[in-house]
Order: sequence, then C-alpha cells, then structure tokens
Amino acid sequence: MAVTTPTRPAPAARPPRPKRSSSAPLNFWRSTIGKKTVMAVTGALMLLFLIVHMLGNLKIFFGPTDFDHYAHWLRTIGEPVLHGAWFLWIMRVGLGLAVILHVVSAYQLSRRDLKARPTKYVHHQRARASYATHIMRYGGITLALFIVYHLLDFTTLTLNRHGVEGAAYDNVVSSFSVWWVTVIYIVAMLSLGLHIQHGFWSAAQTLGVNRPSRDRALKATATTLAVLLTAGFIVVPVAVLAGLVD
Ligand code: HEM
Repeated sequence: MAVTTPTRPAPAARPPRPKRSSSAPLNFWRSTIGKKTVMAVTGALMLLFLIVHMLGNLKIFFGPTDFDHYAHWLRTIGEPVLHGAWFLWIMRVGLGLAVILHVVSAYQLSRRDLKARPTKYVHHQRARASYATHIMRYGGITLALFIVYHLLDFTTLTLNRHGVEGAAYDNVVSSFSVWWVTVIYIVAMLSLGLHIQHGFWSAAQTLGVNRPSRDRALKATATTLAVLLTAGFIVVPVAVLAGLVD
C-alpha cells in the first residue's frame, strides 16, 4: 500500500524586508538630525576661522610691516614642521568642504521641511519662521557670493586694483579706498552677523546644549559673538575710507 505524505501548506509570503542602507555614516547623513549636526559642526569650524581672521585683520592698525608679516604667517603656518604652504592648503580644503557640506545640508533640509509641512502655519508662527528662514537663506546666498568676490579681491588678486602679491596691507587699502567696495563689505558683514546670531542658537539646539536655565545665556552669547565679529570686520574698511589707515 502506497504511503501518502500529507502536503504541507505553502508558507505565507514573507513581508518585504525593510531596505538596509549601506553604512552608519550614510544613514546618519540621510537623517534630519544628521544633516542638522553636519550644519552645526561645519558652522562651528567656519566660526573658529572667522574669529582668528577678524583678530588678525585688526593688525592693520599696527601698520604695513605688522600686517604683511601676519599675512605671510597665514601662508606659512606650521613651518618648518610642514613644508611651505601645506597648512594653508589643508585649511583651504577643510574650509571648502565645510562650506559645501553646510550649503548642501541647508538646501536639503529646507526641501524636506517644505514637503513635510501639511498645513500652513497660523499667521504669527509663519511670520516668525519666515523671518528666520529669510535671514538664513538670503543671508547665506549673500555670504557665498561675498566669499567668491573676497577671494578674487585678496587671494587671487584678480579684482584688486593694487594686486601685488605679499603686499597685503596696500592691497587692502587700495580696495577699501573705493566707497562701493566698502559698501559691499559692510552689507556682507551685516549678513554675517545675523547669520551667526541665528545659526549659533540653532546649533545649540541641535547639539542639545540648550536648557531652559541656559537659554538666556546662550542667546546673549550668540548676540555678543555676532556683534563683536561684525564690528571687528567692519572697522577695517571704515577706517580706510575715513583715512585712519592709509
Ligand atoms: C573687512 C573684512 C575682511 C578683511 C579686511 C579681510 C582680509 C583678507 C585678506 C587680506 C586676505 C588674504 C590674506 C593673504 O593670503 O594675504 C583674506 C583671505 C581670506 N578671507 Fe578675508 N577679510 C575680511 C572678511 C572675511 C570674511 C567675512 C570671510 C568669510 C566669510 C573671509 C574669508 C576669507 C578667506 C576664506 C580667505 C582665504 C584664505 C586663503 O585661502 O588664502 N574674510 N582676507
């Protein structure tokens, strides 16, 4: 007699596996908190550069020898451990990457924010959000354009009327003797101040540094930093235009 084996019921179709992304850093970069963290960290790096740059620029008040010596030091930091302009190039690549990551994250976050918003904000919330968004978005674009102009002015010397390599003092004086160049710098520095004030506060929230007990101190620090940097940068072109530095 033939033995019949009972037929097993076909296994139920498995639900599709959630897509595994390739690596932890990529997952982090794709997440909203990851992009915000990238913005905060790259922003902090650029802020550090700006503090050193602003303090260095103030050496212009000590005359051409001091200022040109500082500009030369900027190009040769790290010597003799590092060769010639190696540090300068490491800094340029680092800052360039920081700017690219900062801008790309900002763009992607704002696209994500637009898609995720189901309904319009009520009137006063919308007004507050759009003020901050405008300051950051248009201020950021102004700063990006300014950086290109600034590099053509003082680094490649393409737009500089004096344009002598190694003569940073005379290059700066010749640029700021033109009133509209000074106006470009002042507008850019005001955008920078507003960007830093709001950006510092946003970064503190992203990194979780803020607490109700610290919020006032953090906001005061953001404002103080923004005002000092803006004033420290603006004082140079204004002093040249006023004939205090010539
Ligand atoms: C009134 C304000 C400023 C003055 C007088 C000034 C002056 C200068 C000078 C003289 C140099 C060339 C140094 C040299 O290599 O000889 C320079 C380079 C540079 N500045 Fe400024 N700067 C000002 C504001 C800013 C601001 C606000 C930013 C950024 C938002 C900035 C970013 C840079 C960068 C990235 C370099 C290039 C460093 C390099 O790769 O050689 N500067 N600046």
